[in-house]
Amino acid sequence: MPQSTRHIGLSLGADVCWPICFEEIIKRLDLKLELPDETVTFDVERVTIEPFDLRQDCKYDVVVDRLTHWYHTSREWIKKSIILNDLYVFNNPWSLQSMEKQTTYSAMIKLGFPIPQTWLVPPKEYEKVADLEPTLARYARMFDLGDVGKGLGYPMFMKPYDGGGWVGVSRIDNEEALKAAYEQSGKHVMHLQHSVEDFDAFVRCVGVGPQLRLVSYDPAAPLHDRYRMEEDFVDAKDEQILRDMTYTINAFFGWDFNSCEALRNKDGWFPIDFANPCPDSQVTSLHWHFPWLVGAIVKWAIFCAATKRSMRMNLDWEPFFKINEEGGTFEEKLPRYAALARKRLDVDAFDEFCVKHLSNFDEVIWEFFDSDRAREAIQAKVETLYPEHEIEEFTNLFWDRIQNWREGHRP
Ligand SMILES: Nc1ncnc2c1ncn2[C@@H]1O[C@H](COP(=O)(O)OP(=O)(O)O)[C@@H](O)[C@H]1O
Ligand SMILES: [Mg+2]
Repeated sequence: MPQSTRHIGLSLGADVCWPICFEEIIKRLDLKLELPDETVTFDVERVTIEPFDLRQDCKYDVVVDRLTHWYHTSREWIKKSIILNDLYVFNNPWSLQSMEKQTTYSAMIKLGFPIPQTWLVPPKEYEKVADLEPTLARYARMFDLGDVGKGLGYPMFMKPYDGGGWVGVSRIDNEEALKAAYEQSGKHVMHLQHSVEDFDAFVRCVGVGPQLRLVSYDPAAPLHDRYRMEEDFVDAKDEQILRDMTYTINAFFGWDFNSCEALRNKDGWFPIDFANPCPDSQVTSLHWHFPWLVGAIVKWAIFCAATKRSMRMNLDWEPFFKINEEGGTFEEKLPRYAALARKRLDVDAFDEFCVKHLSNFDEVIWEFFDSDRAREAIQAKVETLYPEHEIEEFTNLFWDRIQNWREGHRP
């Protein structure tokens, strides 16, 4: 049987902890997969940034990318490598234009998702560019922000239309606060969004390819306590809704790796923030959930590399819109969107692959998270975030939570 090596590249910026774990787990797995035509081994390497010839080869089969949303040089190398060298990347770099809330709200409104009522308002201030004056003088209509507020109703949230990480987000209870927040908003283009009130559940659903994990989230807690340490906190029906919504969103936008936030109150689930295609992956936020996340990224990268998964370069939204046009209530359409999404995400093929080729995976992860290397990875991340005198305390905290996870998840 011919032998070949699949090369996985990690395109990284500030990430510290999960890449160390990724590399070590690949080493420990020491895979030699017997595929129909070849025996395949795996190699992982960090992608470097340097000048490149558009016609040069790409040594990688798969790249796990964490830079595309802001770092152009890596993004452009990735684009040429997909087009010219059959590289598979997650996430799709051409989805960049959808990595703001505006596109995701619009597209999911079209599919019937219960997105809270949302307005977009022109910015308070502008970068002076040549055509600005005539454009605004001719076409910008004076508007009364108070009227917009009255139409939308309070309380509401004001947040940048392309924001992330809670930057520039404020909760607004009345007209005075709305006007004050707008005064402060500077050059940001802002959404005003009706607040989902009296919610009794806040869920982040993290997706890595076909793998989903529902995390109960406490936005009021400090960063290291926001991801709650619990599983099975929603019933089967709610879980299905959240899974179907997340599959649909991720497949629609070409996001193998994304996290979707939704709130539940007496009227149901409301997705509020689901354009997060470079989700927080730090042990300092995920702690108890971190082994799952690392394992999920490793598994999906191996599957994509082993099977030479081909990249869907164009986002191809129409089949989803077609399902919408076929009619029915949202509850009827959602499973149909999700079925299409599951096909695009190769859910069944992936499950089969894992059973056949990765049967010892859970044991490897479980043992790895008891190792010195795992502890080093945690400490290395803690050192970047916490002051000197708190490093030991927080390294121990995250380590203990992971040991707690191990105790409940012995393979
Ligand atoms: N419509 C809303 N209803 C209730 N809470 C909201 C709403 N929009 C935002 N929030 C709160 O503000 C936080 C940040 O807003 P979000 O839309 O998630 O933006 P970001 O991309 O910055 O995370 C959310 O985690 C949530 O706590
Ligand atoms: Mg958010």
